[in-house]
Amino acid sequence: MTEIITLDHITKRYGGRTVLRGICHTICRGDALAFVGHNGCGKSTILKVIAKLVRPTAGKVIYHSPLLFHYIPEKFPPVSLSAREYLLRMGALSGMRQDEAVHRIRMLSEDFFLEELLDSPMQSLSKGTLQKVGVIQAILKRPDVLLLDEPLSGQDAASQSVFIKKVNQLQEEGVTVFLAAHELKLVHAVAQKAYTIKDGLLAVYVPQETPFYRVLLEGNGTEKEPEGMTRQGRYHKLRLAEAECDGLLPKLLSQGWKIRGMEREDT
Ligand SMILES: Nc1ncnc2c1ncn2[C@@H]1O[C@H](COP(=O)(O)OP(=O)(O)OP(=O)(O)O)[C@@H](O)[C@H]1O
Ligand SMILES: [Mg+2]
Repeated sequence: MTEIITLDHITKRYGGRTVLRGICHTICRGDALAFVGHNGCGKSTILKVIAKLVRPTAGKVIYHSPLLFHYIPEKFPPVSLSAREYLLRMGALSGMRQDEAVHRIRMLSEDFFLEELLDSPMQSLSKGTLQKVGVIQAILKRPDVLLLDEPLSGQDAASQSVFIKKVNQLQEEGVTVFLAAHELKLVHAVAQKAYTIKDGLLAVYVPQETPFYRVLLEGNGTEKEPEGMTRQGRYHKLRLAEAECDGLLPKLLSQGWKIRGMEREDT
């Protein structure tokens, strides 16, 4: 396990608000880390600090060797170039030969169903399409570190699975991946470890337990009461885990029960 990045007592304050509070963490080559958590907890901030796009208020980020970073921002800046021109320039900036860049752009835009939009000005592209351009840019040339800030919000299902495959492939080739995301499906598909940021500190993310539903049922008095059912006036109440609902509810309906209400318990 080769250590490549160390976060050494990283603190980041914006005005009076402390977003990161003395975070210490070491990242190895090929790690895939996800940051999850509520809006404003500091996911984008920690990605930018890792990429040295934002300077910490205290502490330092140490790179143990020279690293090529590719970063897909949460918000794409408006650019008047077409997607193709933009990608060609970004390819040239990362040292790719023109023919190599042209070839890669063609392959990747086919993979992401983007060929028809390549020559449209980027200002006119939808949010999901812009994100695809960002994704293509980030993997045009293989980086050492890939930072992805909510890369899938707004992308269609087919592009999401192409994206997951590409990132998994890069990771197998030793690319280190940092991801900020709300979609747990993506976190599970991409990351080996997930963290949330609580009071400025990293905490191992524990997925929420299965949600439970409260179901309000009405019978005509002849139905068999399932286990765990309680009475509430003329109604009956049942608490079911999400996984139980699909199997049990059709059975109750077929026995003559009527569903009068259903709500998800707040987890
Ligand atoms: N440039 C800035 N100036 C002032 N405050 C900022 C700045 N950037 C971020 N913040 C604040 O820092 C906190 C963390 O922001 P950050 O963007 O890292 O959250 P996030 O977890 O990525 O949220 P989201 O899920 O909405 O993307 C927020 O309270 C935000 O308002
Ligand atoms: Mg963010």
